[in-house]
Amino acid sequence: SRYCDKMTFCLGLSERRNSQNYINGIRLPSFIEKKMLEDLVDFPLQEDDLFVVTYPKSGTVWTLHLTTLIRNTSNAARSEHLVEQSMVWLEREGKEAGLALPSPRRFASHLPYHMVPGGAPARSLAKYIYVARNPKDVAVSFYYHLLRMKSIGNLEWDEFFEMFISGRTMFGPWFDHVLEWWQNKDAENILFLRYEDMKRDLPGAVRSISQFMGYDLDQATIESIAEQSSFENMKANPMANPDNSKYANHFKEDAGSFMRKGVIGDWKNHFSEEQSARFDAEFARRMAGSGLELASY
Ligand code: A3P
Repeated sequence: SRYCDKMTFCLGLSERRNSQNYINGIRLPSFIEKKMLEDLVDFPLQEDDLFVVTYPKSGTVWTLHLTTLIRNTSNAARSEHLVEQSMVWLEREGKEAGLALPSPRRFASHLPYHMVPGGAPARSLAKYIYVARNPKDVAVSFYYHLLRMKSIGNLEWDEFFEMFISGRTMFGPWFDHVLEWWQNKDAENILFLRYEDMKRDLPGAVRSISQFMGYDLDQATIESIAEQSSFENMKANPMANPDNSKYANHFKEDAGSFMRKGVIGDWKNHFSEEQSARFDAEFARRMAGSGLELASY
């Protein structure tokens, strides 16, 4: 589509029709070229680098926001959008943008474990926060994300559901993505979080994230960061709401906010009984023996 330039996150209909951008068997947005990923393989990482990695729609922006606030307790706040501060989305913005970033650097990525820039996370110098979310809620959030995109005409939920369950959405099958990170979660430099736990106990999540990042914050600071990171407060704050960030230019003008609902369990309003049962069976089959259970979300 004419909207799909290099900086456009084309996850949508045009992709479905035209592009078969599969790299290493993973379906990726058309702006990610094989050469670009190859250039990123040996991206030089440092000890003070922090990655926030997710399957799309699992709480990426929320986690980036939290890590900005945690770092800002020792830095003067800047006038840049909170999500963008010292952050490069490597597979979207490329190696040069990453290299140009002053330390301490933050990188966002939706890539599977084995494709993350800089090589295998468990053996790299950087730290990685991985956030997983109930895949049924991910699917619903992803669906609404696509509907907001300029490159999308109409997309029926039933059609999207088939794409999602069969792993034909961008960044590949949810199951493989989460499983591979889960299997590496015990590495010292990997923190595996769940959206649902963050939602139920945000101060607790702030505490774990800040400790993981090497900060020893007092209780009042933790509470304050949690307060500023609630769904409502992020939505109301122009410097935190992703609608105002540089990544928002590919959305329709009047298609509603990126900050859509921010709740647990919205899938119940979208999955039919049959879809839910099929998804549960697929989850059980794909995640068998991993220790990951859908009921725990
Ligand atoms: P919904 O579409 O279910 O509302 P990502 O940043 O990975 O694209 O994830 C987007 C999802 O995270 C959206 O989910 C968005 O509303 C939700 N989200 C963003 N900030 C949040 C917050 N502070 N608390 C809870 N959910 C949040």
